[in-house]
Amino acid sequence: MNLSKCKIIDLPKLVDARGNLTFIESNNHIPFDIQRVYYLYDVPGGAERGGHAHKQLHQLIIAMAGSFDVVLDDGVTKQTYHLNRSYYGLYVCPMIWRELNNFSSGSVCMVLASIDYDENDYYRDYDEFSLVSLKMRNQDEN
Ligand code: TYD
Repeated sequence: MNLSKCKIIDLPKLVDARGNLTFIESNNHIPFDIQRVYYLYDVPGGAERGGHAHKQLHQLIIAMAGSFDVVLDDGVTKQTYHLNRSYYGLYVCPMIWRELNNFSSGSVCMVLASIDYDENDYYRDYDEFSLVSLKMRNQDEN
């Protein structure tokens, strides 16, 4: 199941009286090369982000400030992660539908991404995503 490949990655944390430090290396702490970084901020109360899946994209999602929920769905099973620490990253593999909600005020969501932005890599229709993921699952089983 794709959902079982998604997990919280405990990033290195150098605790220091002057302030803590976390770092991330491609293909060491995370299982992909970082090609792009983007972040969500100034998210109004009650807003939801995401609402799509990706064909090829691998991502690591980090709550750099504040907190929010990430609901992952592989077409069969859903799992919700509450992110609220900047040293935890949620790894999301391809073919996972995601919704981000419950953003706290002042929260910042940083995303490390394995490929450039490409609208052709998105499934923005849940029914289409769920049909393709069902076909892929059936192929894997045969
Ligand atoms: P989208 O991925 O749907 O945002 P989210 O999943 O965070 O809610 O992207 C929203 C818009 O931003 C969409 O028009 C595409 C654009 N965009 C870029 O131009 N480059 C990027 O790297 C990303 C992530 C989005």
